[in-house]
Amino acid sequence: MNIILLGPPGAGKGTQAEFICKSLGIPKISTGDMLRAMTATSILGETPMQKEIKQYLNAGKLVPDDIIVQLVKDRIAQPDCGKGFLLDGFPRTIGQAEALLHTGINIDVIFQLQVPDSDLIARLSGRRVHPGSGRTYHVMFNPPKVENKDDETGEPLRQRRDDEEATVIKRLDVYKQQTQPLIAWYKEFVKNHPCKYVEVDATGAVEDVKSTILNAFRSAKM
Ligand code: AP5
Repeated sequence: MNIILLGPPGAGKGTQAEFICKSLGIPKISTGDMLRAMTATSILGETPMQKEIKQYLNAGKLVPDDIIVQLVKDRIAQPDCGKGFLLDGFPRTIGQAEALLHTGINIDVIFQLQVPDSDLIARLSGRRVHPGSGRTYHVMFNPPKVENKDDETGEPLRQRRDDEEATVIKRLDVYKQQTQPLIAWYKEFVKNHPCKYVEVDATGAVEDVKSTILNAFRSAKM
């Protein structure tokens, strides 16, 4: 099964992606995680490409479509995507959605996570991540078992640089300008393609949102 998770920064895409992928046994393709891994500091210094990508990430702007589309096409071609995959944070522009369509790969379901802006800022400012795996926590809403330590490895958690308030505001603006138009685009798309579009109220607790999504799978017999 091929799945897209749509939603603004902080809606819980990464959090819910973990549950869905574990339950279906498919890989999560997070373009944000891939870009952060590509730009991780190395003792060999930075390539011009790494430097360019880092500038987009730190400014809260979108990385150009040509770079992202190639990254995703290469990842989808890996053997572990044969049984399906989940796209977290891609597509993010109509250009990216069109490029995905032109690959000929079918998408079975799109989940659109809906959360008001006021909740998004609180979620992002309290977020902590495990850099090695991308596992995500929240200091209040989804704390790790031991303060500031990853549940699986015990390694320290970090705050993402783009979760600083000024960058969060920029990311929300970029989402409204460049990604939100995809909602109408995909609602039109599903009228002519065998793909389900499911709107999810993602304002409840993590476990409640997880149940809503898993119930949607059961009731639609996906
Ligand atoms: P990316 O890493 O994809 O960031 P994002 O889309 O902004 O999404 P986030 O990771 O911030 O949020 P999320 O929805 O995954 O929420 P999470 O589960 O973590 O992209 C980063 C950057 O990379 C972009 O700005 C851009 O520069 C670049 N990029 C990436 N993809 C690109 C593309 N396709 N094209 C161009 N550029 C691209 O949850 C957030 C917090 O809330 C956590 O602390 C979590 O514990 C908590 N939480 C989750 N669910 C709940 C809940 N139900 N109740 C309370 N708290 C909750």
